[in-house]
This record gives sequence, structure tokens and C-alpha cells, in this order.
Amino acid sequence: MSFELEKELVGKHAAELVEDGQVIGVGSGTTVSYFIKHLGARCRREGLKILAVPSSYQSYFELIKAGVALTTLDEYDTLDLTIDGADEVDEDLNLIKGGGGALTQEKIIGTYTKKLIILVDSSKFVKRIGGAPIPVEVLPKALSPVYKKIESFGGKPEVRMAKRKLGPVVTDNGNFILDCKFEEIIDPESLNTRIKMLPGVVETGLFIGLADRILIGKEGAVIEKVKERARPDLNR
Ligand code: 5RP
Repeated sequence: MSFELEKELVGKHAAELVEDGQVIGVGSGTTVSYFIKHLGARCRREGLKILAVPSSYQSYFELIKAGVALTTLDEYDTLDLTIDGADEVDEDLNLIKGGGGALTQEKIIGTYTKKLIILVDSSKFVKRIGGAPIPVEVLPKALSPVYKKIESFGGKPEVRMAKRKLGPVVTDNGNFILDCKFEEIIDPESLNTRIKMLPGVVETGLFIGLADRILIGKEGAVIEKVKERARPDLNR
């Protein structure tokens, strides 16, 4: 089975997990697109009353097209469930996200939620995250100092360049992205904290301890990995 079919399989499976009346966060990416398509079909078929908070212009427009009603975190500050994709997932359910540049809003909806479920095809599940570069969203004015600091941490940053526009990718929030490759990530939590603490950094694509459940599409089946630990306590 191709990776594309595995994405559709998990997207469809996840759409069945949403319950009537829930307020959900919706991530971004091609796997999430399948989820949105199947959720929209369920809303039409079963008359489900779902409200969704999108994490990007991509999911915003796709949710509208699918006929799923939208809301915001101003109206619901804790979501019932968030569904998203990832670029890499490991045994500890740590993630690298941000391949689509929507990491900041994705981390927001993935944090202010009771449950975060991640959908991936089998190519994304690895022993230890770090094969993919870590996307870091940076305020344009701080690009050069942040670049140098990340180099001093052992990373190899690259400014993400746009494909059908001249110059760098500009995120939905008006910022730039540094894709930072590290030889090896021994302690993802402390690396996340070090990068996040740099003034000018908006967010990192390291999602540590946030995912509750991973759904992996593999050869026609959906494999689940569930986290035993509690989510970070937002009231601490
Ligand atoms: C966007 C993301 C995506 O969830 C991630 O890049 C996976 O995308 P896809 O499902 O297209 O492989 O983090 O910022």
C-alpha cells in the first residue's frame, strides 16, 4: 500500500473518532486533508454538530469547503480533541512538526486540548526523532542572531525558501522559518527549551509530551500507539 493510501486510511479512521457536539482543533497537511474530507462527509450524512478551530489558512479553507463550522479559541479555550499530522514520530510519542509551516498554531491547538491525536503514514514512525530538520518560526528582525545561536547549539539552520514566490517562506503569522538539522537529538525536551528561549523565536516544531495517541497507517491497517503519561498540567 502506498504512503498516500496509508494517509487516507488514517484520515478516514480519525474522522470516525469525532463525536457529535465536540469542539475540535484541526491541524494541517495532506493527511489532515483526508481527515477533513471524511469529517465533512460525516457531518453531511449524519448531521453532526461539530465546531472546528483551524491551525492554518490551508485547514481554514478546507474546513469551509467541507461544510464544517468554524470557531476560535476565544470562544472555546479548551478543545475536546485535536487531530493533526506530523513529519516524524517516535516511540515516546515525541514529534517533529512544521513541514507545512503551521507549527505555531498547531502547537497552540495541540496544547489547549484535552487530547491530541496524530495521524501518520508508516514512513514517519522512527526510533528516535531527528532525521528530519526541526522547523523554527522566527520573527524576521531576529533571523540572523537566532540563526547564529542555533549554529552554536550544533544545528545547521537553513532559511526555508518559497517555491512560487521569490525569497523566503512567510508563515501565516508573517514570520520566517529556519529548518534546523541536528546530527543527533539526545534530549529533545531541553533542545526545545533552549531554542524556544531565544528572543525572536516564536515556536519550534519539537512537540514533546503533547501527543496522546498516534495512528499509523501501515499496509492497510491502522496501528495505535498510546501514551501512558499525563498531559502537561496547564494550571501549573
Ligand atoms: C504542517 C505539519 C504537518 O502536519 C506535517 O508536515 C505532515 O504533513 P503531511 O500530512 O502532508 O505529511 O506539521 O505544519
